[in-house]
Amino acid sequence: MTAEAHHLDAHQLIAREAHYLATAARINYYDLIIDHAHGAVLTDVAGNDYIDLLASASAINVGHTNARVVRAIQNQAEKLIHYTPAYFHHQPEQQLAERLSKLAPGDDNEVAFGNSGSDANDAIIKFSRAYTGRQYIVSYMDAYHGSTYGSMTLSGVSLNMARKMGPMLPGVVHVPYPDLYRRLPGESEHELSLRYFAAFKAPFDSYLPVDETACVLIEPIQGDGGIRKAPTEYIQLVYQFCHDHGILFAVDEVNQGMGRTGKMWSIEHFPGVQPDLMSVGKSLASGMPLSAVIGRRDVMESLAAPAHVFTTSANPVCCAASLATLDALAAEDLLHKSIVDGAYVKQRFLALQQRHPKIGDVRLYGLDGGIELVKDPTTKEPDPEFASDVIYEAFQHGVVMITLKGNILRFQPPLVITRLQLDRALMVIDHALTAAEQGQVQRPTGKIGW
Ligand SMILES: Cc1ncc(COP(=O)(O)O)c(C=O)c1O
Repeated sequence: MTAEAHHLDAHQLIAREAHYLATAARINYYDLIIDHAHGAVLTDVAGNDYIDLLASASAINVGHTNARVVRAIQNQAEKLIHYTPAYFHHQPEQQLAERLSKLAPGDDNEVAFGNSGSDANDAIIKFSRAYTGRQYIVSYMDAYHGSTYGSMTLSGVSLNMARKMGPMLPGVVHVPYPDLYRRLPGESEHELSLRYFAAFKAPFDSYLPVDETACVLIEPIQGDGGIRKAPTEYIQLVYQFCHDHGILFAVDEVNQGMGRTGKMWSIEHFPGVQPDLMSVGKSLASGMPLSAVIGRRDVMESLAAPAHVFTTSANPVCCAASLATLDALAAEDLLHKSIVDGAYVKQRFLALQQRHPKIGDVRLYGLDGGIELVKDPTTKEPDPEFASDVIYEAFQHGVVMITLKGNILRFQPPLVITRLQLDRALMVIDHALTAAEQGQVQRPTGKIGW
């Protein structure tokens, strides 16, 4: 505990910070000031421990202060903290560029580095426009792609990301993302895929010239949209459409990549689909600021320098952290662990659903979950008040979890979380659901989350 924290409680510290930090820069959930963390456990400034079910928004897949990552950062920091790769070379960047090119789908890739997932998605706009000589980009409603002008325009998840800041980037069209939970009565997955594919094609029939469309950007499993996976058939239909019309197919793996879903990249869940471009960030360097766009060589060669250069991109300490993160994923067998533990957690949530009727849908793809809380499972109407009660109560009992779209529990722990920690977290969630059902949760007034 810091000396200051002895004298001020979290609430006071946060009130003081609020005077200096812009409202736009944080989504408020509850008063948690993290002092340190290890594995899947966070410790706050007062010394309280919490099981982390958020992994810093899926940025800490290999666990907090993973020994390999810490050592790599320390060793590199002593050698070279930064020299911009805009002009010269350093070895961590060289090694990482080669490794990522080989790790991504496809056998002839190149990489361009950045500082955030947002700029990696901007890169997708730049490279796809340059390669095709076309202007339009298709992305999805409910997607979060970032907070730069380009990636914010690609997003479709919050009005606060568009309000008062327009005009947004021209040439971006949004289509609806398939929702397997809210099917039409009696609708099969095949019929749903065709329905959403028809919605995808509709703009091309009325106002969007297909031969002026550069790229479709999709999260194969939507993250902030609620951890929901598109049907394989739907992705294959869109992919084929892109191929038939010279449109690049790009995937955002910022949230869902780096082993989160039990595969290195979430697109690997979809047989026969190979993206032309891919954005990566977050867990790429275990939360150190590093992103990459990885793509087909001919696409990546369509721009000349300095079309995508940043002074601090491919920082050597970040690259070293990234190389160590890739080592940790492999050495600690974390992809496999994600699948096994994800299946276990899914069974546990399905069992909870039997006792807690407000659990409308349980989605888990490895340790990557969205648990949808609804007012009534027959109407499927979202219940954000109930979900806010649940996460607040869980926090009071040592579990950190947030919501997506107000009513969906976001389950994305560090992949190193132990079975004991999972069991403890599930027990706390069970109690929190009961407390919320019985109206026993006392949480501060005001909005929680987005
Ligand atoms: C799918 C996805 N893409 C892009 C981003 C933006 O990444 P960053 O916040 O590092 O700019 C996020 C962040 O939440 C994300 O979830």
